[in-house]
Amino acid sequence: MKFSALLSEKNEEGRVISSIKMLDESDLPAGNVLVKVEWAGLNYKDGLCLNGAGGLVRNYPHVAGIDFSGVVQSSSDERYKEGDKVILTGWRVGENRFGGYAELARVEGDYLVPLPKSMSTRDAMVIGTAGLTAQLAISRLKENGLKPTNGEILVTGAGGGVGSIATLLLANENYEVVGVTGREETKAMLKMLGASVIMDRSDLAEPSKRVLESTRWAGVIDSVGGESLGNILKAVKSGAGVALIGLAGGATWNASVIPFIIRGVNLYGIDSVMASFEKRQKAWNELAQNFDQDKYAPLVSEVALDQLPEYGKRILKGEIMGRVIVQP
Ligand SMILES: NC(=O)c1ccc[n+]([C@@H]2O[C@H](COP(=O)([O-])OP(=O)(O)OC[C@H]3O[C@@H](n4cnc5c(N)ncnc54)[C@H](OP(=O)(O)O)[C@@H]3O)[C@@H](O)[C@H]2O)c1
Repeated sequence: MKFSALLSEKNEEGRVISSIKMLDESDLPAGNVLVKVEWAGLNYKDGLCLNGAGGLVRNYPHVAGIDFSGVVQSSSDERYKEGDKVILTGWRVGENRFGGYAELARVEGDYLVPLPKSMSTRDAMVIGTAGLTAQLAISRLKENGLKPTNGEILVTGAGGGVGSIATLLLANENYEVVGVTGREETKAMLKMLGASVIMDRSDLAEPSKRVLESTRWAGVIDSVGGESLGNILKAVKSGAGVALIGLAGGATWNASVIPFIIRGVNLYGIDSVMASFEKRQKAWNELAQNFDQDKYAPLVSEVALDQLPEYGKRILKGEIMGRVIVQP
C-alpha cells in the first residue's frame, strides 16, 4: 500500500531537506503493529531530527515524528486489534526508526498504550510527549511528598510544550506556580493557564556566587537545564524535589554538592522515552482526568505536514508557544 510521508533526506552539501513523498508499506521498519496515524506532535527533538542536529538520526532518508496517535490497521500483537485507538511516545521512534510524520507507521506493540476512552486522538497529541513528561515529573515530585500547601513550584521554559502543560496541570490542582519565560508574549498566556507569578528568564541567568540562597521552591519542573539550574538548586526548600526534564537552555551547569548535603535537595531525572508501559498508562489515565483541553486550546497550533520543516527550525530557536500538532 502506498502512503504519503514527510521524508527527510540529506542533500549533497549534507543539509537535511524534508518534503512530502509517496512511500510504500514495504519501506516501513519491522514491527508487529501497523497504525494509521491520525495526529502527530512537534517536539524539540523533532526539530533536531528535521534539521539533522543533535546526532539523533543516524540514517537518512528518514521519517521524523517522535509521537503520534492513530488507529490500528493490522496487528500480530495479541494486545491490539484492527480499529483500536493507540498512542505512541518514545522508544526512539522517529529517531532510529521511521516515526509519525506519515499516514502509516509500523511499530512494536510494546511501544504503544491504548488511548484512554475519554480522549480523542487529537486530544492525545495536544498533550503528546510534552504532556506525558510533565505528568511523569509531577508524579515524581508528589511521590517525594509535594502538596499544594508546601509552597511555590517553579516551572522553567514555561512557554514551551512541557512547561505550559506542567503549569496548567499544577495550577488546576491548586499549586502556586511560578512560570519562568524568556518571552514577553507568553506572559499573558501563562497567567491564563493559572501561573500565580511570572518570572523573567534573565532573573535566573546570572550565576550567583553564594553556595546557598534563601529557600523558595517547594518543587521545580525544569525543561531548560543549563546555568539557571545551578541557581535554582540553591533556593530549593529542605527535602524538596527538582524534576529535570530537558536541556533547552544547555546541558551543563555549575554545580556544588551543598544544596544536596545541607538541605537534602532531591534531583530527579525524568525520562519519558523508556518509561515502562505501566508508568505511561498510569500517566495517560491521569492526563485524561486532569488535563483541561478547553483551557489549553489557545496554545495549540494545527499545521500542515509540509510546514513542519519551518516549525522545526522555530522550535529549536525557542519560538514556539505551547503545542504544534499535525494531521499527516
Ligand atoms: N526527558 C524527557 O523524556 C523529555 C521529554 C520531552 C521533552 N524533553 C526535553 O525538554 C525540553 C523542552 O521540550 P519541549 O518539547 O517543551 O520544547 P519547547 O516547546 O521548545 O519548549 C522549550 C522552552 O524552553 C525555553 N527556552 C528555549 N531556549 C532557551 C534558552 N536558551 N534558555 C532558556 N530557556 C529556553 C522556551 O520557553 P520560554 O520562551 O517560555 O522561556 C521554550 O519554549 C527539550 O530539551 C526536550 O528535549 C525531554
